Amino acid sequence: MEQNEALMNDKEYLLMEQGIMRLLGIDLQAYKSTQMRRRLTYFMNQCDARSFSEFCRKLESSPALLDRLRNHITINVSEFFRDEAPFNYLKSTVLPQLVRTRNRLKIWSAGCSGGQEPYSIAMLLDLLAANPGSYRILGTDIDSGVLKTAVAGGPYTSESLRNVGPSMLSRYFTASGGGYKVNDVIRQRVEFKMQNLLSDPFEKGFDLIACRNVTIYFTNEAKATLNRKFYDALSPGGILFIGGTETSLEMTALGFRPIAPQFFAKGEPAIRSASLKTPTVLTGQTRG
Ligand SMILES: C[S@@+](CC[C@H](N)C(=O)[O-])C[C@H]1O[C@@H](n2cnc3c(N)ncnc32)[C@H](O)[C@@H]1O
Repeated sequence: MEQNEALMNDKEYLLMEQGIMRLLGIDLQAYKSTQMRRRLTYFMNQCDARSFSEFCRKLESSPALLDRLRNHITINVSEFFRDEAPFNYLKSTVLPQLVRTRNRLKIWSAGCSGGQEPYSIAMLLDLLAANPGSYRILGTDIDSGVLKTAVAGGPYTSESLRNVGPSMLSRYFTASGGGYKVNDVIRQRVEFKMQNLLSDPFEKGFDLIACRNVTIYFTNEAKATLNRKFYDALSPGGILFIGGTETSLEMTALGFRPIAPQFFAKGEPAIRSASLKTPTVLTGQTRG
């Protein structure tokens, strides 16, 4: 529960913006301020600081507290195969067509948290028997803490595995330390990099970019700038896969064409338009 919302006033929030930019390189002006103010106020209350200046002093002197603050700001809840309907569409339509039509696939999970999303994509490509040498999957995030989990392939809580059926679980995961780790064969197919989507340059030539449940925290301006950068980073006909509530009016003005809920193609799509299939738990039965 995040309470005492009124505690951080405008002046304090401005100082907080400046401090966070200096200490963490995160530009809070790109994030929705009402939500962020609430989150920061809650964090400050949890730190037992008697005043705003004491809170700032604590932050300056404790790298561990700064790490916790970065985690708190970035909100990194994720799941494997998060949202079954779009993942089924990815499995049945987007990935098979991309594999068929592209010599070398370049895929990016932007704001990948602990790697659940790029590993889910790697598992789908494995089910499609795509040659691992014919694709590259990149996962990026601003948060070094979650990237450590991503690089190690876990361990993941059973909560983040709730959309993984028993056959997928036994095929791609190993029980470890009270949770599950992805098997090495999948882990080795994804590379991870730290990146701030709001300020760092992007690679180009991606055939698929997944950026989901990341821009919900951004202002409309930051979201529009990011979508323009994604457009430029996609190859012609490449696909942008976004979260259920993240669509924005500018998508078509930017040149994106909606091909299914949550999927947009750059210009002429390589994928035929289709509606999403009824969600079913992924079973791992695709390859014979
Ligand atoms: C809620 S998680 C979403 C993870 C995954 N895409 C999913 O849908 O399950 C949001 C992620 O975005 C990352 N993030 C937030 N702001 C970012 C930024 N400016 N640049 C890169 N990643 C950012 C957070 O660190 C967090 O891991």
